[in-house]
Amino acid sequence: MSGSNAAAQPGPPLWLLAELTYRCPLHCAFCYNPVDFATSGPELSTDDWLRVLREARATGSVQCGFSGGEPMMRDDLEVLVAEAHRLGFYTNLLTSGVGLTPERAAALKAAGLDHIQLSFQDSTRESNDFLSHTRTFDLKQRVAAMIKDNGWPMVMNCVIHRLNIDYIDRIIEMAVELGAEYLELANNQYYSWAMVNRDQLLPTRAQLERAERVTNEYREKYGDRIRIFFVVPDYHETRPKKCMNGWGNVFLTVTPDGTALPCHTAKMLPGLAFPNVREMGVREIWYGSEGFNRYRGDAWMKEPCRTCPEKEKDLGGCRCQAYMLAGDPAAADPVCDKSPAHYVVTEALARAERGEGRAMPLVFRDPAASRRLAAGEGQD
Ligand code: FES
Repeated sequence: MSGSNAAAQPGPPLWLLAELTYRCPLHCAFCYNPVDFATSGPELSTDDWLRVLREARATGSVQCGFSGGEPMMRDDLEVLVAEAHRLGFYTNLLTSGVGLTPERAAALKAAGLDHIQLSFQDSTRESNDFLSHTRTFDLKQRVAAMIKDNGWPMVMNCVIHRLNIDYIDRIIEMAVELGAEYLELANNQYYSWAMVNRDQLLPTRAQLERAERVTNEYREKYGDRIRIFFVVPDYHETRPKKCMNGWGNVFLTVTPDGTALPCHTAKMLPGLAFPNVREMGVREIWYGSEGFNRYRGDAWMKEPCRTCPEKEKDLGGCRCQAYMLAGDPAAADPVCDKSPAHYVVTEALARAERGEGRAMPLVFRDPAASRRLAAGEGQD
């Protein structure tokens, strides 16, 4: 018998992520946009996006996230949110807060936006502004107040890594002071710009254990006042995550130029063609395209995944991580200690323990760096 799920019809793309633009006023060193973002094609028009929203909803999507780059850079954001709301989506805006004025907040509220996730880089102005390479800390505080004033649930997100993990108590205190109902402490995962800066950003095990302990203490202290999610980094695990809850299972992302992907970074995988919403409808993309079908189910698996008793649980982990670390998108995710390439992860952790990244400069996300990286030139 071949892969047990391979022939099963997948469910609908419940979660649509509309990456409206790669333009962004920030320059975060851990940005999840592809490192070659500056070489991508022109952005979809308003009409293209409206059609994508309708097609996705008709294919069964129920939740729509608007992200980027910085989605506030699109002046049609309110139009798109209004249409998504009219279609019956639960709508979510993922923003750095830059560009969210009281007028635009009111317009987004009127358009029916359900939820805003505001990202911070750290708990102090100095560190926040260093990590994003912009002066945005004070602005984010004002935006946080604006979110509360408009009655949105306040969801704060902070990417956690070596350079801010020791201040996790202050980050939590700040979230409480700003009145956040939810705080997502998202330990950095090493893709895209974070992969470029991995040695600088990977925390030590002691840092991670302390951060988890402190987070648990704050959970006890504040109880229901704030819900704190601590997303564990895979590098410190011995089994991989079920990436995107399964390839082509619930998640559909459309990039600024219209490429449809099963995850943020799949475009880098070799030998796979991903369709563009300008040329193919969402239903056909989801159910019929090669890019979405390739790693569905488990028929594509090699050893050790193929005969692993845990394969249904993690589906072999992340295809992008397998490609980045083992050079083969169909290999076991090297985070798994059964993977022959697991040593790549343990070596990176050993370098983190020795602090080897401390002397290395961070590579901040910007179009010039992106073009250099895309050309394979590395950094100055
Ligand atoms: Fe692409 Fe995990 S990020 S499959």
